[in-house]
Amino acid sequence: MIDTIQTIDGKKVSEKLLETLKLEIEGLISSGNRRPGLAVILVGEDPASATYVGRKKKVCESLGMKSFDFVLSASVTEEELVALIERLNNDQEVDGILLQVPLPKGLNERKLLDLISHEKDVDGFHPVNVGKLLLGLPTFKSCTPYGVCELLKAYSVETAGKHVVIIGRSNIVGKPLSAMLVQKSEPGEPGNATVTVCHSRTQNLKEITRTADILIAAIGQPLFVKEDMVKEGAVVIDVGVNRVDDASRERGYKLVGDVEFGGASKKASLITPVPGGVGPMTIAMLMKNTLKSYLGRV
Ligand code: GUN
Repeated sequence: MIDTIQTIDGKKVSEKLLETLKLEIEGLISSGNRRPGLAVILVGEDPASATYVGRKKKVCESLGMKSFDFVLSASVTEEELVALIERLNNDQEVDGILLQVPLPKGLNERKLLDLISHEKDVDGFHPVNVGKLLLGLPTFKSCTPYGVCELLKAYSVETAGKHVVIIGRSNIVGKPLSAMLVQKSEPGEPGNATVTVCHSRTQNLKEITRTADILIAAIGQPLFVKEDMVKEGAVVIDVGVNRVDDASRERGYKLVGDVEFGGASKKASLITPVPGGVGPMTIAMLMKNTLKSYLGRV
């Protein structure tokens, strides 16, 4: 067991970032500019998505941005969503458009995401922006992987030359994060890592994760990463947010990550908790992307 275990405080890092954004937005508004605007579309009743979207609205307004919310029934048609996205693409008050995924069955998620103007794609999901990311060109970076990079930077975690192992190959986290961390970068900026992406078909997973200097779990399986999968002194980043039943709580569930924190923290030099690790960073990066879009438009 190593002597110094340090927990990464994503709440603190995100609050500092939001404070900076708030001051910048206040300055813009007091100089007579319009407010930046973010439109969020939620379809269906998934409770976790509803919580996430509610939090976005609150943070948006606390920064002085305009929040345009569209909470739609799961029975909405694809044509209605197409019309809404086209309207928002043309709305001069809207700088960012976010379509919360996953969408209910029957709706073509890829088609709808691709319809969002890549200039307002603050999620970084549009093929143009994914392509730019891969090429190392300036673009909107997807919020969760961007938040992971900012946390590594805030805690001065060196990534250059290090072995980063990502468990999970999703379009939202695993794939874009691997592109960000493998990218050539300036000293002090995350990048220049040797990245291994593992997934459900990976053989000898434990042998691979035990070689990780930085281990990132993003598979959506509660408590998947155990102590024996972690190298002594590794940095462990837990992207998972899973609801598991807990009768002792009034709401009936608790949130756990993809990492078994108690075990992994015996090996890790630095580790993110759930909640309070990566989660708050995702929203902060969304706000940063929305301001970036606004600044390219005013
Ligand atoms: N669902 C889970 N995470 C995200 C995200 O970052 N953006 C969108 N649009 N949907 C999500």
